[in-house]
Amino acid sequence: MRIVRDLPALRAATETMRRAGERVALVPTMGALHAGHLALVEAARREADRVITSIFVNPLQFGPNEDFSKYPRTEEADLAALEAAGCDIAWLPTVEVMYPPGAATVIEVAGPTEGFEGAARPGHFRGVATVCCKLFSQTEADVAVFGEKDWQQLQVIRRMVADLDLPLDILGHPIVRDADGLALSSRNRYLSPAERAKAAMLPEAMREAANAMLHGAAIESALDAARDGLNAAGFDVNYLALVEPETLRPTDALPARMIAAAKLGPVRLLDNMPVG
Ligand code: PAF
Repeated sequence: MRIVRDLPALRAATETMRRAGERVALVPTMGALHAGHLALVEAARREADRVITSIFVNPLQFGPNEDFSKYPRTEEADLAALEAAGCDIAWLPTVEVMYPPGAATVIEVAGPTEGFEGAARPGHFRGVATVCCKLFSQTEADVAVFGEKDWQQLQVIRRMVADLDLPLDILGHPIVRDADGLALSSRNRYLSPAERAKAAMLPEAMREAANAMLHGAAIESALDAARDGLNAAGFDVNYLALVEPETLRPTDALPARMIAAAKLGPVRLLDNMPVG
């Protein structure tokens, strides 16, 4: 596996692949890799001849009171894991490479950015869209693989790619969960043992609400029951909603996607699942 930190070296490497007629897949990450990320690398290997994984903690997608400086950085372990997973190129730009002095262009996606994470984290999706657009252009990938855990992010990326006619496919990969059902996330490491044990109540409550809806319960009362149960158990539920899968518009028609964000101790847990 090659470790590349500057654009001319990346361009030279991708040029070689392109000349050989190879299909290239990109897995964008912020590092602190776990089994969920490695599943994306495996999916990318099935999709393409070559896999590039980017590791870049993107300052543009963190708000002023968010955890940019404290975001876990585990480069050595990440590189070892990527090598073992069969990644061909690890793309590790610095902030100066990604956003050179004078950089003045951002991508603003409307529509699916407008509620939920977009409302809770103003500017977050501007940062995500901008960095992903740059990563797509830098790597000239044919396909990029994203985890479905960040469901809204995946829809924002799909919208941007469609709107800007970007020449790549976007592949969503199902959420990878721990044995108790908690969706894997780099931030789960900040849960205390007691919080970690409790965290699986989030997907459990969502599954119960989904089952209730499928058995005819009113959508709002099923969501209210899940919210109340989680709040009573010590979660601080930011949102728990049923939305149209692509637009993220609230809906009470099935099939739909249930999406949730809830704070537990220091960690904001995100989850989502199909209903119907
Ligand atoms: O999901 C993430 O890890 C990030 O938002 C992404 C897509 C790598 C962009 O920085």
